Amino acid sequence: MNRDFFIALDFSTSAEAISLVKMLPTEHLYYKIGMELFFREGERILYTLAEAGKRVFLDLKLYDIPNTVSRAIASLAAYPFYMVNVHLLGGEMMVREALVAAHHLSFQPRVIGVTILTSYDIDALAAIFPGNERILPEEWARYLAVQGKQWGIEGVVCSPHEAALIKESCGNDFLTVTPGIRFSDEKAHDQKRVATPERARREGCDFPVVGRAITEDFSKAESNYERFLFAWNV
Ligand code: C5P
Repeated sequence: MNRDFFIALDFSTSAEAISLVKMLPTEHLYYKIGMELFFREGERILYTLAEAGKRVFLDLKLYDIPNTVSRAIASLAAYPFYMVNVHLLGGEMMVREALVAAHHLSFQPRVIGVTILTSYDIDALAAIFPGNERILPEEWARYLAVQGKQWGIEGVVCSPHEAALIKESCGNDFLTVTPGIRFSDEKAHDQKRVATPERARREGCDFPVVGRAITEDFSKAESNYERFLFAWNV
């Protein structure tokens, strides 16, 4: 079973991100850089982590016309990273062009597709559809995952709630990267489709993404890291 997971470096400065990286054991970690850190620090943070041999998931959730997404990925050629993601709602052409652009990078990052953000529940989702049509987030996520697989994507970002469903439709090798991880005694913040590490494991998630459950309180980061690892690997 996979023991590795992504830790979300959701900080506004490299200094904070690097101090967390130094604080935690690195063995099981991939480091997720999102928009906040990347917009502030740009490629310098990729350089710093690449120099230190860290595995990076560049969580930019690209979503634009195909040409723009393709050129955005092509412009990330300077420093290697392990994975990048695009919104599956961007459609087939955007996804296929993203895959081609990634394939042309020397380090060949994996490209995965964002299904339905874990901050959506059924009500929030209905609010963006004409006539407030109510579609279950897990059905939407599964549908997008199946489409993404046909377009060449090798995995998705989804909630732990739908990881098993997606594997049932897309196969066990299809990667599920799952944010929305919370300990049972913790608040969900802005996330809606949350799950404990134990549930993420039962649902067969490949890579949980853990942010505030570990990083919110620096003084507890090490003990929360151990707590997560224990629950994820029971
Ligand atoms: O702090 P928390 O564990 O909620 O952080 C989750 C992380 O995963 C954030 O960095 C967020 O941007 C990211 N993410 C997400 N939902 C997605 C994709 C990524 O929450 N669908």
